Parts: sequence; C-alpha cells; structure tokens
Amino acid sequence: MITIKIIYHSGYNHTKKQAEHVKIGADKVDNTKVDLVTTEEAIKDIDQFANVDAIIFGSPTYMGSVSADFKQFMDASSSAWFNRSWKDKIAAGFTNSGSMSGEKMNTLNTFIAFAMQHAMIWVGQAELDGSPKEEPGKPDAINRIGSALGAMAQSIQLSPDQTSASSGDLKTAEILGQRVANITKKFKS
Ligand SMILES: Cc1cc2nc3c(=O)[nH]c(=O)nc-3n(C[C@H](O)[C@H](O)[C@H](O)COP(=O)(O)O)c2cc1C
Repeated sequence: MITIKIIYHSGYNHTKKQAEHVKIGADKVDNTKVDLVTTEEAIKDIDQFANVDAIIFGSPTYMGSVSADFKQFMDASSSAWFNRSWKDKIAAGFTNSGSMSGEKMNTLNTFIAFAMQHAMIWVGQAELDGSPKEEPGKPDAINRIGSALGAMAQSIQLSPDQTSASSGDLKTAEILGQRVANITKKFKS
C-alpha cells in the first residue's frame, strides 16, 4: 500500500477542483490511499505527513506566486524540515490561475524549491503539450499550457455558477496524480 496526501489551498474552489482530479488520477493506481488535505487542516497537524510516501502540493497563483495560505503551510512545515522527516518522499505540484500565464511557473518553481528544502524527490508532468492532437491551447488538450514542472490550469469565474475550467486541464491534473502514484509505487518496491 502506498499513501499520498494532496495538500492544497483554494480561495474560490478552482484549485480545489484541480486537486480532486489529481486524486481521481492517483486513485486509479491499485493499493494506493489518497487523501485531500486543505492548508488549514495541514497547519493544525503537520505531523500527519511524516508517514506518507508522497506529497502533492496545490495552490492558486495569487500575485504571481503561491497564495498566502499556502505559504503559511510552507512555513508551518519547518519542524519537518528540521527533523528531515520528508526526506526522500516523492513530491509534485499543480497550480491554477486566471490568466493563461499569470506567472504560474513561478508558483511551480516555488513548490520545487520548497520540496528541495525538504530533500524530497520532484516528479514533473510528462505529457508533451497539446497531446494527443498536437493542438496546444485547445481547451480539451492535455497539458495545453505546456508545463513540464507540474500541472497547470487556467480558470476564472464566468458567472456565479459557471467557471472556465477546461476539460484538458482537469485531465492533465488526473494524469499527474496517476504518474505520481505509479512512480511512488516503483520507488517503494
Ligand atoms: C488575491 C488574488 C491574486 C491573484 N493573482 C493572480 C495572478 O497573479 N495571476 C493570475 O493569472 N491570476 C491571478 N488571480 C486569479 C486566480 O488565480 C484565479 O481566479 C484562480 O482561478 C483562483 O483559484 P482558486 O479558486 O482556487 O482560489 C488572483 C486572484 C486573487 C484572488
């Protein structure tokens, strides 16, 4: 059995939806236990990550970087950093923003630096941009934004009950979750 925690913050539920799709992907791998944890829950109990095999980080891109809530979680993890208790765990990340770029890469780079601070092992996104139709940018294309560092999604609130979340971005999130679970399994065996 491998265990994965997906820790995320979401102010308006767009990144939450992406997190749920990362879980759908990871759940496809046999003998995998996957939990979704909000930053609020994580900060209250940072020790819950000590015994998991992989941690996947998710944050909306706010002002060109991780949200303040996510940064609060990062800082709350300093006891785990000090004890090296996340060393050699698998790590990956995903982010969502309103603009197509919106500086999402900076958010993923922040996750990577954070994971390296904890001596974790980073797993990126493997799909070529726009597969399978080689049409990057199309809403239903996998990795339409073309990120190798982690899963990116672009979404905004179009009306109170409608968002622009694209099927391709959600599928991309699923593929990342599945990849992390498969790699974690290989790494443990
Ligand atoms: C405080 C704040 C800062 C934001 N900064 C950015 C930004 O730097 N780049 C961008 O493209 N979108 C930005 N946005 C838009 C959000 O990234 C976008 O609405 C996203 O879908 C919100 O995700 P959430 O519902 O998970 O909070 C910002 C939104 C807020 C509320």
